This record gives sequence, structure tokens and C-alpha cells, in this order.
Amino acid sequence: MISMGVSPFFRTLRGLGRWRGSPNRFQPFNHTLPDRYPWLFSFARETLSDGPERSLLSFGCSTGDEVFTLRRYFPAAAIKGIDIDPRNIAECRRQARRFGRTDFEFTAGDSTKMEAAQSYDAIFCLAVLCNGNLTTSGAERCDPVLRFATFERVVKDFVRCLKPGGLLCLVTTNFRFCDTDAAAEFDVALNIDPSLLAPDVLFDRSNRLMKNVRYTEVAFRKH
Ligand SMILES: C[S@@+](CC[C@H](N)C(=O)[O-])C[C@H]1O[C@@H](n2cnc3c(N)ncnc32)[C@H](O)[C@@H]1O
Repeated sequence: MISMGVSPFFRTLRGLGRWRGSPNRFQPFNHTLPDRYPWLFSFARETLSDGPERSLLSFGCSTGDEVFTLRRYFPAAAIKGIDIDPRNIAECRRQARRFGRTDFEFTAGDSTKMEAAQSYDAIFCLAVLCNGNLTTSGAERCDPVLRFATFERVVKDFVRCLKPGGLLCLVTTNFRFCDTDAAAEFDVALNIDPSLLAPDVLFDRSNRLMKNVRYTEVAFRKH
């Protein structure tokens, strides 16, 4: 399915190859794997159940493994993938054609601004709202590479797009959801064992490193 849901602003950025300079750009690396978070996908399936009325978003879907994996857990749901890199979206579409699948939607974009309010049962944003270079470089601050304010803005729009009772899944971020104002609208739905966490470091609302802090809350249910 070819999506028309790309904002004129983003279409211009994409046309000029300028999406790399988007103020919303987080993780610059594309690494992905099939069934990368089985504990999370199983939890989401058990919590939400499957059905044609279910609608799922993989935000930062890279080259598509996450979307194709979600189909295995949710055979009947509507599933959409968004990625900032148009080359990744082209690869997602190529893979879907190769598998003979037309039951996905893919679109290039750097936010959920074009998505309808209260339209998703779950948003998966996994290994996206981070930048691996911050961990490997031993940075004491995350700005100007990333800013908490940008994280909060992106997440706030996820909240708008989720239905009441919807699941927000945030794994491997450089910030904590509990530090955002939006967290007051959610209950923690899943806490994981620290051994499942990637080594990524965390920064506070003022963009300062929170030394030796691990954050094990990864899924949140909207009131
Ligand atoms: C490491 S990959 C994660 C892929 C997949 N979610 C997973 O966990 O396997 C990070 C992806 O986030 C995308 N990304 C970074 N900032 C983004 C943004 N603002 N909007 C959409 N995608 C973004 C990158 O292009 C990249 O494909």
C-alpha cells in the first residue's frame, strides 16, 4: 500500500535528501532484527489480543523486520511502519512485495503528526529515541546531539495518537518516559529484568547524564 500521509514539510526534506537534518531525528543507525523483542511482542499480544479492529504502529521501523515480526503476533491487525529514512521505507516495500504481502502500510516521516488522534492500540518505538554515539563516546550531556525537549514533544504526539487503553512501548531510549509530563496519563504496564536492557545511557530533563541509572519500565497503558 502506498501511503499518502507525508507532510509537505517532510516531502520537501525528503526530496532534498535533507531528512538527515530533521530536528526530530534520533537514532542514526538502522540495525534491526526479526523478533528482536519477543518478550515485548508476546506481552502486547496478550494484553491487547488480536483482531481486525486492532491498529499498530512501528515508529522507526528501519528496513521492516519489526513490522513483519508484528504480523506474526497479530495476524489480523492493521500494521503501519514509519521511518525517517526514505531508503528504509523503500526496502520495507521491497520486502513486502517479495513476501507477496499487501497488508502493511509504510510511510517516510519523522513524527506522528500526520496520524489521526486516538487511532492506535499500540505504538512500538524501539531503539529509536536514542543515539548510540552518546553511549560509546561517554558524553556527560546529550545536547546538542539530542534534547529532552524533543523527546518529550515526540512522545506527547504518540499520546495523542493512542486510543484510551492503548499501549506505548518504549525500549532503548536515552530518556525516561517517567520524566515527561505525559507519563501522568499512563500506568506502567511492563517492567523488565535489567539483563534485557541495551547498555544505552540516560539523560535527565536538563540533558545531563544520569550516572549508573537503569530504567526498566518499557510499556505504558494510557488511561
Ligand atoms: C536502530 S533502528 C531500530 C529499528 C527497530 N525499531 C528495531 O528496534 O529493530 C532506529 C531507526 O529509527 C529511525 N529513526 C530515527 N529518528 C527517527 C524519527 N524521528 N522518525 C522516524 N524514524 C526515526 C532510523 O532511521 C532507524 O531506522
